[in-house]
Amino acid sequence: MKIIGTGRAHPAFTLTNSMLEDILDTSNEWIMERTGITQRQIITDEKLEDLAAEAARQALDDAGLTAKDIDLLICSNVVNEYATPSLGCVVEGLIGAECPTYDINAACSGFVYALSMAEAYLRSGMFRRILILCAEEPTRMVSWQDRSTCVLFGDAAGAVVVTAGDEMKAIRITATPKRDVLRYERMLQPTPYITKSESDVPLVMNGREVFKTAVTSSIADVKGVLSDSGVDKDEVKYYILHQANVRIIEAIREHFKQPAEKFPRNVDKYGNTSSASIPVMLDEMSRKGCFKRGDKLVLSAFGAGFTTAACLIEWAK
Ligand code: ACO
Repeated sequence: MKIIGTGRAHPAFTLTNSMLEDILDTSNEWIMERTGITQRQIITDEKLEDLAAEAARQALDDAGLTAKDIDLLICSNVVNEYATPSLGCVVEGLIGAECPTYDINAACSGFVYALSMAEAYLRSGMFRRILILCAEEPTRMVSWQDRSTCVLFGDAAGAVVVTAGDEMKAIRITATPKRDVLRYERMLQPTPYITKSESDVPLVMNGREVFKTAVTSSIADVKGVLSDSGVDKDEVKYYILHQANVRIIEAIREHFKQPAEKFPRNVDKYGNTSSASIPVMLDEMSRKGCFKRGDKLVLSAFGAGFTTAACLIEWAK
């Protein structure tokens, strides 16, 4: 596969660390030092589906295509206001696409998981042009009284259009059952036969465990895709990691002994936007002219599950 178009959309409202100081027992210094985040953009009156549609339209426009040209829409999402229909179906209606669509939930690894599916479909010849859309509102899962989680997240949508090509050089996806490290329990409707007590529990996270697992797994995945593709770590132009925390990115960068400019960051201004973080970064960098055709990029993500995913691609635009 190859990426032929990118797009992104962010909510209008910017929530700074100093604004959080007004509602929580926290400080700009603590958040900056532990996470590298200075602000995040969060949903207020917007709907996630509208951000998703905007990111999708931009990616199609960038690829020189219309919604009708797309054969498949894969949507990566953890929560949105509908459990059903899928967010993919909702967005399809908004952009005027006429193709099969479904949602996947691989948490923050969703974008690279979706790339692996697209690669398989394109190789088989089943589809020719696939829209991958990652739309996330993690700020709706956290308790806004819990300073250890709510400061970390932001909302966003990122999208890419992919078509057949030889630019996917290696890809790995993994999952390990680790429910206690990071989970969000959705409240289901009661029935006359349910006897257990149920309550709406916001996101629960063991931050230190997430940190360690993220660093270890991402290092293993990146080594894996370098070895599978036969590319030396110094030949990679950029390592585009899931944007969860600057310290996680730094730990991985130090392991590979690479200069800081090869590990771009935008978590400082957007927070952790779950599976949207990598396509948002690709779009931002592409529009700034950071990539040229043939550049080798490593993408690496990790998320609840615990899921991990990495790939090595060549830029094709
Ligand atoms: N402001 C001030 N103090 C805080 C805050 C806050 N926002 N949050 C926690 N603290 C306090 C804690 O209460 C604790 O106080 P205590 O010592 O009196 O008990 C103290 O700070 C230290 O807390 P720790 O949890 O040990 O702090 P740590 O250095 O581990 O940093 C953090 C916490 C930032 C969450 C870190 O563990 C981390 O980044 N983990 C990765 C989590 C992550 O990225 N999650 C994203 C979702 S998952 C994903 O994308 C894969």
